[in-house]
Amino acid sequence: MKRLRDAFSGNRAIIGMIPVLLILTLSVILISRAVALAAPDQPIEFSHKKHSDAGLECLFCHSQAPRSDIAGIPSVKFCIECHQTIATESEQIQILQGYWDRQEPIPWVAVNDLPDHTYFSHQVHLSARVNCETCHGPVASMTQLKPLNTMDMGWCLACHLDQPEEKVAKLADCLACHQ
Ligand code: HEC
Ligand code: HEC
Ligand code: HEC
Ligand code: HEC
Ligand code: HEC
Repeated sequence: MKRLRDAFSGNRAIIGMIPVLLILTLSVILISRAVALAAPDQPIEFSHKKHSDAGLECLFCHSQAPRSDIAGIPSVKFCIECHQTIATESEQIQILQGYWDRQEPIPWVAVNDLPDHTYFSHQVHLSARVNCETCHGPVASMTQLKPLNTMDMGWCLACHLDQPEEKVAKLADCLACHQ
């Protein structure tokens, strides 16, 4: 009888833990979402806004986007071509100059990074006239780039299922995005 009672109170303790576990799980989910949506610190304080205000188009720097899977990030040489004369007094430009002098690539931190088991192509989306802002948000006004969303499977599919009916089967096929 005592054994039974102990076992029962043991269960009660476990039942009592459930709300605590739920709250913990929820916090972990919310925190990891907030971390995923935060703007990562970059090795150089690169401002998209400053460059857009200077009249530079997205494709001027991300020129691979219309013809390949990736959009591409410009090389240090590309930056230095302007910055050996523009804003040379700036501390950030001196950091940039340091990478150039050492002939080191800048270790930019990825803002959006899909897992390796997925396939994405910029080229197909740009040919279908989906624009950068639809997926990346108002980049031209960002002083520090942050992701619009976590780019999870539900987000990809929400747009794919919204395409003209004859295309949906192809766009919702697992093998389109998992090759
Ligand atoms: C002067 C060159 C330049 C221009 C113009 C430019 N970018 Fe960038 N872009 C960069 C650099 C450098 C990075 C890496 C640093 C960073 O993430 O802030 C970057 C990063 C990005 C990323 C994040 C990539 C990742 O890691 O996931 C996106 C998205 C992006 N740019 C979109 C745009 C869009 C949209 C425009 C036009 C509104 C644009 N860029 C204009 C240079 C540029
Ligand atoms: C349909 C949504 C979509 C559109 C439209 C789109 N992107 Fe992206 N972009 C992504 C996704 C998803 C990734 C992450 C890819 C990965 O991790 O494999 C990404 C990654 C990037 C990156 C970093 C990795 C790389 O490919 O070099 C840059 C830079 C970038 N995008 C710039 C742009 C620019 C500039 C445009 C417009 C010309 C654009 N993107 C349009 C979804 C999009
Ligand atoms: C076509 C010319 C051009 C290119 C290429 C270019 N920039 Fe710039 N950059 C500018 C202009 C113009 C400004 C604004 C200068 C100002 O506000 O005084 C600027 C501003 C900056 C600043 C802020 C300087 C400050 O402290 O005010 C940084 C940092 C910077 N650029 C980094 C980069 C990096 C990194 C690249 C390469 C990915 C790059 N730029 C490519 C023209 C360029
Ligand atoms: C805002 C809408 C939108 C979003 C978001 C989007 N796509 Fe697409 N996607 C399209 C359109 C439109 C096409 C081209 C349809 C056509 O063939 O005309 C396409 C085509 C594709 C194709 C080529 C399919 C084929 O077999 O031809 C792949 C792969 C793909 N998308 C992957 C992704 C992935 C992965 C994501 C999320 C990271 C994503 N897409 C997010 C609109 C979107
Ligand atoms: C439009 C593109 C797209 C299509 C279609 C798609 N997926 Fe995904 N899937 C993704 C992306 C992007 C991720 C990575 C982001 C995430 O985990 O949500 C992913 C992640 C996954 C994961 C891993 C989840 C994890 O926790 O790592 C599984 C399993 C998966 N997909 C299965 C499927 C199956 C099964 C289908 C077909 C019924 C399918 N996917 C169709 C884009 C797609």
